[in-house]
Amino acid sequence: MATQVPIPPAGDKGAFVREMFARIAPRYDAANRVLTAGMDEGWRKRSIALLAPPRGGTVLDLCCGTGDVVFHLLRTDPTLHVTGIDFCTPMLEGARKRSAREARGDAAFVEGDVMALPFGDNTFDGATMGFSLRNVVEIDQVLREIVRVLKPGARFVNLDVSKAPNRLFKRFFDLYFYRLVPLIGGMVGGSRAAYTYLPNSLTHHPGAEDLRTRFTRAGFADAGFERLMGGSIAIHYGTKA
Ligand SMILES: C[S@@+](CC[C@H](N)C(=O)[O-])C[C@H]1O[C@@H](n2cnc3c(N)ncnc32)[C@H](O)[C@@H]1O
Repeated sequence: MATQVPIPPAGDKGAFVREMFARIAPRYDAANRVLTAGMDEGWRKRSIALLAPPRGGTVLDLCCGTGDVVFHLLRTDPTLHVTGIDFCTPMLEGARKRSAREARGDAAFVEGDVMALPFGDNTFDGATMGFSLRNVVEIDQVLREIVRVLKPGARFVNLDVSKAPNRLFKRFFDLYFYRLVPLIGGMVGGSRAAYTYLPNSLTHHPGAEDLRTRFTRAGFADAGFERLMGGSIAIHYGTKA
């Protein structure tokens, strides 16, 4: 396995993550497309299908970055009102620029920390998160916050990389993720250090079953997950009771 980048202590992790994304923000979208060979489009589509938000509903996209999930949601259903939240100003600047070209409906972007969402209880008809739960300081706190801001009966869908259960597949994926991603991320994304941290954040992330348990503990009914790509990608979902 490639060089391990130590995960910073919880107290420093938020600032570390924010600065890291600020560094890679200008080339984040290009790096994403190259690193996933465009396959993330299909995974995002599947996530939105699992969310199935009501027409005209309000959806919160947590850790929206440059807005990939937000624009997917609006392409799928332009009647939605979608709010993206992120704590990294340069990533949000990217989202706002894209919004002028890509939003076919109502997109709003808010700067804030998902550990303490600046929204009232029972506000949203759905919530999404893409490739970000590994980066937050405390997963359980974020899940509780999501439950709080969702309306009863509303769903949350989380798309992220995961630990593949199949050993052979895991070996190939690890080779790609821990060795190639830092190389390609360094060339296309502009920071080898950032693209070394990102795969390593999976090492310390709960497995798919454990994460489902944490969804349930946070207050999601019918928590479950779907594995894609041999389990190296997982979509977790749950409904606020
Ligand atoms: C890998 S990017 C994912 C962006 C986008 N969701 C996507 O699918 O492309 C992770 C994003 O999470 C944001 N982030 C991490 N921790 C956060 C927190 N505690 N509050 C708000 N945003 C956070 C980062 O700033 C970054 O934009």
